[in-house]
Amino acid sequence: MKNTMFRGVVALVAMVVVGTTLVGCNSAEHKKAIENRKIEKLLSQMTLEEKIGMLHANRMFSSGGVARLGIPDVWFSDGPHGVRYESVDNGWASLNWDNDACTNMPALSALAATWNKELALQCGEVIGAESKARGKHVQLAPGVNITRSVLNGRTWEYFSEDPYITAELAVPYIKGVQSQGVAACVKHLALNSQALSQYWISSQTDRRTLREIYLPAFEAAVKRGGVMALMPAYNKVDGLWCSENKYLIDTLLRNEWGFDGLVVSDWNGVHNTVSTATTGIDVEMGTAIKEKGLYAFDKYYFANPLLEEVKAGNVDEEVINRKVRNILRTLLRLDAIGKRPYDTTGMGAILANPEHVAVARKIAEESVVLLKNDNKVLPLNPGQYKKVAVIGVNANTKFSLGGGSPKVKAKYEVTILEGLHNRLGEDVEILYAPGYKLLHRQFVAAQHRFTDEFDRDFPELAAEAVEVAKEAELVIFVGGLSHEHGLDCEGYDRPNMKLPYRQDELIAAVQKANPNTVVVLMTGSPVEMGEWYHSADAVMQCSYLGTEGGNALARVLYGDVTPSGKLTNTWAVRLEDMPDIKLGEYPGNNKEVCFNEGLLVGYRYFDTCNVAPMFEFGYGLSYTTFEYSDLEIAPVWNDSQEEFEVAFTITNTGDREGSETAQIYLHQNQSSVMRPAKELKGFEKVSLAAGESKRVTTTLNRRALQWWNEAEQCWTDEAGVFSLMVGASSRDVRLRGEFELVK
Ligand code: BGC
Repeated sequence: MKNTMFRGVVALVAMVVVGTTLVGCNSAEHKKAIENRKIEKLLSQMTLEEKIGMLHANRMFSSGGVARLGIPDVWFSDGPHGVRYESVDNGWASLNWDNDACTNMPALSALAATWNKELALQCGEVIGAESKARGKHVQLAPGVNITRSVLNGRTWEYFSEDPYITAELAVPYIKGVQSQGVAACVKHLALNSQALSQYWISSQTDRRTLREIYLPAFEAAVKRGGVMALMPAYNKVDGLWCSENKYLIDTLLRNEWGFDGLVVSDWNGVHNTVSTATTGIDVEMGTAIKEKGLYAFDKYYFANPLLEEVKAGNVDEEVINRKVRNILRTLLRLDAIGKRPYDTTGMGAILANPEHVAVARKIAEESVVLLKNDNKVLPLNPGQYKKVAVIGVNANTKFSLGGGSPKVKAKYEVTILEGLHNRLGEDVEILYAPGYKLLHRQFVAAQHRFTDEFDRDFPELAAEAVEVAKEAELVIFVGGLSHEHGLDCEGYDRPNMKLPYRQDELIAAVQKANPNTVVVLMTGSPVEMGEWYHSADAVMQCSYLGTEGGNALARVLYGDVTPSGKLTNTWAVRLEDMPDIKLGEYPGNNKEVCFNEGLLVGYRYFDTCNVAPMFEFGYGLSYTTFEYSDLEIAPVWNDSQEEFEVAFTITNTGDREGSETAQIYLHQNQSSVMRPAKELKGFEKVSLAAGESKRVTTTLNRRALQWWNEAEQCWTDEAGVFSLMVGASSRDVRLRGEFELVK
């Protein structure tokens, strides 16, 4: 009692006497000072062996703690679309728990197609909450690599070819995850743009391209998102593995961006002890060093070998201390020190609860992209057709457990077929035929060279599909890609941009049998359109939609939801049109891959070099129509101004509600350096009732004008006139204006 009173009096005196210190007490600096004191206190009590024990995996998905000091093991989980199932300590296999199933959120490529920052935040919140409930400290997400080669089997796990939208969605996602007391881990730094040879290849690009295209999302994750963890990529950059790349990790991340969180290697991404240890990476995970068939955690580069190097005087103990400090700092920020190490009480009420699956469904609904809708075939009228044929493997496949590390054991996943049944009820007869089948071939990750593995056709299944199509009043074809090795799957690149298993021919045959065919392509990356496209009235595209996918898609097809998704990767007419292939190189020479196309990635290339894509970046139709008007921008952006406002009006000119994403692109008319024809610098999504108008205001920041000046090593803007374009897509520019940067 006495003590408490005494403390109260001291606090009061402190408040009265040093009022300013009181503000100081709450300041970030003060908090940091307290944090540092706690860190140093813990560190001072640790032996060298205990410290080293914290720097490497002690199970497949955890690194060591120091129990006697209340420092827990650090638990990691994949990934961007949900919390991975519990696996055995020494391997990847599931423990087959019956209570670890989660919400499978739509893939990041789907989240990106929503262009909805609020949904990105909510997505992060759901994943963070489920991760926390599952006792995790670090959620290995989001992946923010830029789509350079559309063949990269991880395209579906990433946001876009464009750095701006990637950053704008990654930041709220990260904030969402971390708001739940779990660290997000942005990955994979950097230039990991293909699976082929990724474990040994070096990605080469100039520094300006690195800064303007490949790094902005990482930079935003650190500076604006406050991300607590980061993972270097598998590949090399400038001949050095990313995990020991001092330029990326030390110069950029730690020093320039001031990142003081946890850098965790990719699984098996460390290749040596001293060189990696003397780089600013903290924890080594997943090394493939085995003894008697088991992962030998104490033989990892950052385990006994590091201990030996420290003892031999080849690595200073202070190097080890720095790493331990980063881990402790992260754990302190998560309030995880001195707590029950792996607390999963109460998880049942949280995993895939109704609020979480509602968010999953909303994202799925908003992500669907309407590519074509001639004669207003869509939305379908549920009362109109009583016999519907659903054709295609993707209608009847669950995707959550596929694709590599993002796999999620979903509490449930509604297939498209089930979604259509749910939507249409008993009144409508649904016939189903797969038309082809997935072959599930096994290839060696990162080594598989392409053959014709996806050219197989299945005449009998195709004939059956044609018969079923003839019988029905309406056909909904649901095909696309899948998570098989060599398609949308980590570890492999696609052989080409075509639909596998001769789906182009199958769709054409089905259309011929029944012209009333709606095509749904479920693909996590762009595909070439076959001849059938020209005869199709309605084509929809979506990525992998997660737990509520089937319900969401059915609701969009039948008009309960107006589609508002827009593409975040350019869909080329054919693969050969892609800039990595035309100007740069893909897949490189097995040692090196040169990003010679430089800044001209995605639409930056198509628009600057006037190449017509099949579907441009930012493209997506609606069931309603929108008009843009009354662009208002000041004529001058003064040097002293950090920000600049742009305003315009969007009107829903159709007869139903809908949402529109307006995109703001900039181009500097004259510049001392090459500037792409158009670069996305802002976007706003608005919902409008039929006939409604809204004034949209958006703020551009100074970075929108700048380019990376290699000579001076800084962001630079030049006085001069800029064209500002407001578009419904990158090519459908509705409003244009100009302003001058006056310096
Ligand atoms: C992937 C990472 C993932 C890790 C752990 C690696 O293969 O590249 O993104 O987090 O596995 O599953």
